[in-house]
Amino acid sequence: MKRMLSGIKPTGQLTLGNYIGALKNFVAYQDEYEMIAFIANLHCITVYQDPQELKKNLKDAVALYLACGLDPNKATVFLQTDVLEHAQLGFIMSCNTYMGELNRMTQFKDKQAKGETNLTAGLYTYPTLMSADILMYDADYVPVGEDQKQHVELCRDTAIRFNHKYGDTFKVPEPLVPKVGARIMSLSDPTKKMSKSDHGDKGCIYLLDDLNVARKKIMSAVTDSLAKVQFDPVNQPGISNLLQIHSSLSGVSIDDLVKQFENSGYGEFKKAVADVVCQELSKIQAAYKDVIASGQIEAVLEDGANKARRIASRKLSKIQRKIGIEIRKR
Ligand code: AMP
Ligand code: TRP
Repeated sequence: MKRMLSGIKPTGQLTLGNYIGALKNFVAYQDEYEMIAFIANLHCITVYQDPQELKKNLKDAVALYLACGLDPNKATVFLQTDVLEHAQLGFIMSCNTYMGELNRMTQFKDKQAKGETNLTAGLYTYPTLMSADILMYDADYVPVGEDQKQHVELCRDTAIRFNHKYGDTFKVPEPLVPKVGARIMSLSDPTKKMSKSDHGDKGCIYLLDDLNVARKKIMSAVTDSLAKVQFDPVNQPGISNLLQIHSSLSGVSIDDLVKQFENSGYGEFKKAVADVVCQELSKIQAAYKDVIASGQIEAVLEDGANKARRIASRKLSKIQRKIGIEIRKR
């Protein structure tokens, strides 16, 4: 069985973008692949997080993984910090990645270009930790949204170079980016990605949003004055974004949706999108309550960490031997 691996940063509440671009696909693939899904709690401290809030977000993220349908009997679900090998391989990867490569990462460049100050060294080198997360498990595929594709490509380049230098060590992974919904845009500014950090913004739907709040956010989504439901991300980014959201949740193709709503006003179309979103959120939220009430989170994480550690410790030993930094066999 081919192996698939991915992670999400619990920097805030998980969003509809995380769900459509990533989490929903982890669930869809868990029968066909050996799925490893972890919570990237080291990645998230590349930007300051309030410790109390972070702790709550961590627990919610695990609960949402399960509520969205990840089955701990099929998938390995764990916290990145429970497997110490990630940080060590992260350092090794940072020694096998060039600054020139990191300088090309658009996520970091964008933050720099916005004039954000106090950017940390961890934020700059974070793609190297991400490479470690992936290569540690010899993942064949990495399901991610569009914004993470460049980091997976960097991981591939690093793996190829490492294999060349030290002999065959890593499987070279492939990013799996969904055809529809790989970049869900902000509802209040459809030229920007929907993001957890849009704190309190009407542009972002959180998976645990009250359904009325979520509905209002969709009904007030920014659109355009063309008054025609069509898929044209350049001239109609708002409507195209809503079409992607509907299509990825309902499974109806964008072409069919365009036909279905060709004579509808934007109000009617938005209401249909809100219905689809609220239906999905209400299922997730009911399951989330059950997960929290069941008290299973700690046991799931412990079991997941044990499974992940078994793979990671053997792999790290092998890598250390290849590099020449190990004397005693562990
Ligand atoms: P992050 O929240 O940055 O840890 O992202 C976790 C996963 O969700 C990654 O695979 C991202 O590519 C994906 N993702 C985050 N935001 C969006 C979005 N607005 N649209 C689609 N995918 C997203
Ligand atoms: N960097 C990813 C993000 O911000 C999260 C992540 C960390 C990840 N390690 C990973 C995703 C490994 C896929 C594989 O979204």
